[in-house]
Amino acid sequence: MRVAVVGATGAVGQEILKVLEARNFPLSELRLYASPRSAGKTMVFRGEAIPVEPLPEGPLPVDLVLASAGGSLSKALAPVWAQGGALVIDNSSAWRYEPHVPLVVPEVNRERIFQHQGIIANPNCTTAILVMALWPLHRAFRAKRVIVATYQAASGAGAKGMEELLRETHRYLHGESPVAEVFAHPLPFNVIPHIDTFQENGYTREEMKVVWETHKIFGDDSLRISATAVRVPTLRAHAEAVSVEFERPVSPEAAREVLAQAKGVEVVDEPLARRYPMPLTASGKWNVEVGRIRKSLAFENGLDFFVVGDQLLKGAALNAVQIAEEWLKGP
Ligand SMILES: NC(=O)c1ccc[n+]([C@@H]2O[C@H](COP(=O)([O-])OP(=O)(O)OC[C@H]3O[C@@H](n4cnc5c(N)ncnc54)[C@H](OP(=O)(O)O)[C@@H]3O)[C@@H](O)[C@H]2O)c1
Repeated sequence: MRVAVVGATGAVGQEILKVLEARNFPLSELRLYASPRSAGKTMVFRGEAIPVEPLPEGPLPVDLVLASAGGSLSKALAPVWAQGGALVIDNSSAWRYEPHVPLVVPEVNRERIFQHQGIIANPNCTTAILVMALWPLHRAFRAKRVIVATYQAASGAGAKGMEELLRETHRYLHGESPVAEVFAHPLPFNVIPHIDTFQENGYTREEMKVVWETHKIFGDDSLRISATAVRVPTLRAHAEAVSVEFERPVSPEAAREVLAQAKGVEVVDEPLARRYPMPLTASGKWNVEVGRIRKSLAFENGLDFFVVGDQLLKGAALNAVQIAEEWLKGP
């Protein structure tokens, strides 16, 4: 199994390397690609320094490509890599909405992996974290309506997003006015209800991704979903406040039992002991944390809960590697 990581030096790419190593992924050769800016760099994998190569335009000499170098690059090159014989698992949004491209969270729709035609898409990070909690509850109680507000970390905008938050916080604390290049406004000591571009319906593309992608992953367009996506000044791990109305009767106790059995989910729900999901506790974890589970005061058969997941892991690198692992195991 010869593996290429395209975008290896980025926020997601660096995590892919760590996940491949930590999970002992069965690879015989690893090639790392990035832009010409990274020429001369090396990255350490299993104790060995591997050179970062400039990405060529043609096929790559590998069996599996894990791509996280942006949408336009994937749009242009993923078909070339696939035609060259590699399976491409793509972290960008370039292929997610193509009907012939599976959009996969293995805990939800593993079977779609085996319908690929060379490219498999990894979902948007906010969606991946939401569905980890929503899918087991949906199976048990049939969700009808979902309202979600997100609290998204700076690293969702890549390595540059993290750097901007740290740099501008430092400037602010030294009496200077923070400026914004990556984000729409200065992020330190602020929250910004604007991620990605505004659509005709008044929602942002990030918000609509949650709707479109949850429908595709669940294979069910009837679920009604509204999202508000907000950038907050945390470094890592996205948090989401979720309200769900179900068809069937539900209780917080029953929901906790269902979630306790769900793979990839950790119930962290002891509010009196100050234990609930938070970015600081979820960062670096493979599981998503779910807690603050309570009966909705707004919906009949409703629940409110809080879910937090490391979006560089379950929202990107870990999910991509899990797809590859399941692909190797076979149907
Ligand atoms: N950050 C997240 O939480 C997250 C989650 C899910 C999905 N994604 C998606 O994953 C992708 C990468 O995101 P990221 O956050 O890792 O971004 P990032 O930190 O900005 O990293 C981008 C990577 O792409 C490489 N790259 C850029 N232009 C290139 C080119 N022309 N040729 C070859 N390599 C090039 C960069 O190389 P250099 O270092 O050489 O510039 C770097 O390795 C995006 O499509 C993003 O939407 C991100």
